[in-house]
Amino acid sequence: MTDLKKLIITATDSHVLSEAQIIDILKDDSINDFLFSAADEVREKYVGNEVHLRGLIEFSNICKCSCKYCGIRKENTLVQRYRMTEEKIFALAQKAKEYGYKTIVLQSGEDSFFSKEKMVSIIKKIKDMGFALTLSIGEKTYEEYKEYKDAGADRYLLRIETTDKNLYQKMHPDMSFENRIRCLKDLKKLGYETGTGCLVGLPEQSIESLAHDILFFKELDADMIGLGPFIPAPDTPLETEDGGTLTMALKVMALTRLLLPDINIPATTAMETLDPDGRLKALQSGANVVMPNITDEECKHKYTIYPGKAGLNNTADEYNRSIMLKIKNRGRIIASGFGFRFRNL
Ligand code: 5AD
Repeated sequence: MTDLKKLIITATDSHVLSEAQIIDILKDDSINDFLFSAADEVREKYVGNEVHLRGLIEFSNICKCSCKYCGIRKENTLVQRYRMTEEKIFALAQKAKEYGYKTIVLQSGEDSFFSKEKMVSIIKKIKDMGFALTLSIGEKTYEEYKEYKDAGADRYLLRIETTDKNLYQKMHPDMSFENRIRCLKDLKKLGYETGTGCLVGLPEQSIESLAHDILFFKELDADMIGLGPFIPAPDTPLETEDGGTLTMALKVMALTRLLLPDINIPATTAMETLDPDGRLKALQSGANVVMPNITDEECKHKYTIYPGKAGLNNTADEYNRSIMLKIKNRGRIIASGFGFRFRNL
């Protein structure tokens, strides 16, 4: 057995790898299948065979940010902008209830129309419907995060995107890396199940910085990690750049599972966008969550953070049926609980 394989086996028990070891694994493609199987075993041992389905509602694509990679950045005047009414959000949540989903994920651009008061009212209503609630609405103040938590929000997703500070500043000219970290620490402090993650394959992103991203997830003790390949979006400054690969995204995800064995890890839409089987491959390489998009037909075509997003050609009904079938066909179980992190170390 090669040294790298031995290293992977040790990590399935110790859940520890050094930066140099992670780099070696990321650089060697001969051990990929071995790595994916190891992550699959750790997933089964710590979080079992259940797959948690979280219904994603993209309730506004209006955004004040200028993230260079993102198709709905504020400079992109070609995007048809929308905001859902509260009634529409609740009607979509009702559909999620019918599908049996236990969690609603509310995601949007950074849209100040949805003031603290408006968000609190939406959060309370969704909680009254009996859901676990995840927010993914960007950088806020400590006070805002606290009010959302007090109103009942359970989880929050805010990807660090990259821990390479130089690259972060280049990608987010009007944002600050320190504030991003501050947000994540505030969310942890407030008791949210906190999700972060990164883009894989950004221009100028090094393997070393990806290794650093993985160690950052562990250091933060993230409860959820969502990551995917960078997909160049038209009408952005990065439209002609090369994108990331599914393989590298799966490797970063599998290593994350080895080091954070009991967290929730989604098989992301960006993975399925690069390969129709991308989500299933992810579910067999460490992932245990799927976030079906339940945004209505009209709006989801306008939430163009990157092109060709998987699921655009199917209705939520169709997608729900097909993902459930695929999960069951792989011998996995649709979870019946809320899917909170169960510390199992
Ligand atoms: N390719 C892949 N993922 C993207 N995101 C934004 N733009 C892109 C893109 N072009 C991801 C970011 C963000 C999440 C909601 O979508 O990581 O956190």
